[in-house]
Amino acid sequence: MNHIYGKTIILGVTGGIAAYKAAALTSKLTQKGAKVHVIMTASAKEFITELTLQSLSKQRVYSDTFQERDPAEISHIDLADSADLVLIAPATANILAKMAVGIGDDMLSTTMLAVTAPVMVAPAMNVHMYQHPAVRTNMQTLASRGVHFIEPGEGLLACGYVGKGRMEEPETIVAVVNEFFAGRDMAAQGPLAGKRVMVTAGGTVERIDPVRYISNDSSGKMGFALARAARAMGAEVTLIAARTDVAPPQDPQIDLVRVESAADMYAAVSSRWSDCDLLIGAAAVADYRPRISAETKIKKSGDTLTLELVKTTDILDTLGKIKEKQFVIGFAAETGNAELYAKDKLVRKNLDLIVANDVGQEGAGFGTETNIVSIYSSEGLVLDLPLSSKDEVARRILQLAAERMAGAAV
Ligand code: CTP
Repeated sequence: MNHIYGKTIILGVTGGIAAYKAAALTSKLTQKGAKVHVIMTASAKEFITELTLQSLSKQRVYSDTFQERDPAEISHIDLADSADLVLIAPATANILAKMAVGIGDDMLSTTMLAVTAPVMVAPAMNVHMYQHPAVRTNMQTLASRGVHFIEPGEGLLACGYVGKGRMEEPETIVAVVNEFFAGRDMAAQGPLAGKRVMVTAGGTVERIDPVRYISNDSSGKMGFALARAARAMGAEVTLIAARTDVAPPQDPQIDLVRVESAADMYAAVSSRWSDCDLLIGAAAVADYRPRISAETKIKKSGDTLTLELVKTTDILDTLGKIKEKQFVIGFAAETGNAELYAKDKLVRKNLDLIVANDVGQEGAGFGTETNIVSIYSSEGLVLDLPLSSKDEVARRILQLAAERMAGAAV
């Protein structure tokens, strides 16, 4: 199905040999019914003409910030506000660097500073440039801000090298864009549409010194599955993730916030708390942290070393006790007596639901692809889920939350 029809897309074209592919991209997106506003950099114009892209998009092409043609508008702000999606294809190492640092010295980079719509980039560059640590760091920075990468496939590059660096083909980029809008259209009708959901994930890291820390076995898989499931049901999702073993969801619509310690996680969650409708605490938050985190590496001395640990702030406990409209779900990963401990945590932390799992069971708990959980409310057992994928467990948890939140709102 065509989900591109009627959407407004800013297509940023930067200066690489793959700029010629922007013509096919503009044409395909326009044919599917999108309004495509092309912004070219000066070097892109060395590879492809403004007139080509203007003729294909049937829209005026922008390139110079200072060439305001209509006195009633400020192009880069109006353009940025109008977009459902910004796509930069091809994206050179230069535009990635400018975006990562926040430089606005031409129409495209300035517009990128004003954009609030989701951003996708299709990099294209020489294989060695693509692997350069500076480029990798910039890409990681952008990815952590929610920029979605349409990664180049391996193939023969214009410079003669074979490897990653080629821009993805226009057909594939159009398919990715269509899939993105399909997800968004579906989400707009989902049971959590309009709700703000916050999910904590991963294991916190409590520093002993710059090279040593206390953490736990949490992989982040359950929290990531919850964030994806909440998004698929239409929620606006903020994912607060500590140390994780797996890649976070590549969804530009999920706001990913990286944290390290329990204190960082508490700060990130509590600053967003008043806007939140549903909080799910899937993170394994350290209960204790070293009282002193040494600024330099601790040197070996006596036969024993005593670490003094102090309690961290319990995020769910603190917020559960002051909650108003918020629906709060906790997790209880136990190694025995799961039901007893879970019910105790539910009451103690004033939670609406608690998801209990016995991490000692095969197929349950940290690192696995599956989980076996029992969900309790203050009335008792609500749902017993046999061995299921973490995605399925996440879907069932969110379904329950959506039903209960809708019931409470009536
Ligand atoms: N949790 C939290 N902040 C903490 C510790 C835990 O928000 N500092 C949350 C977890 O994300 C989880 C729930 O509380 O959703 C239960 O975590 P758990 O460590 O099992 O609970 P504790 O109250 O710390 O109990 P225990 O004595 O078993 O460690």
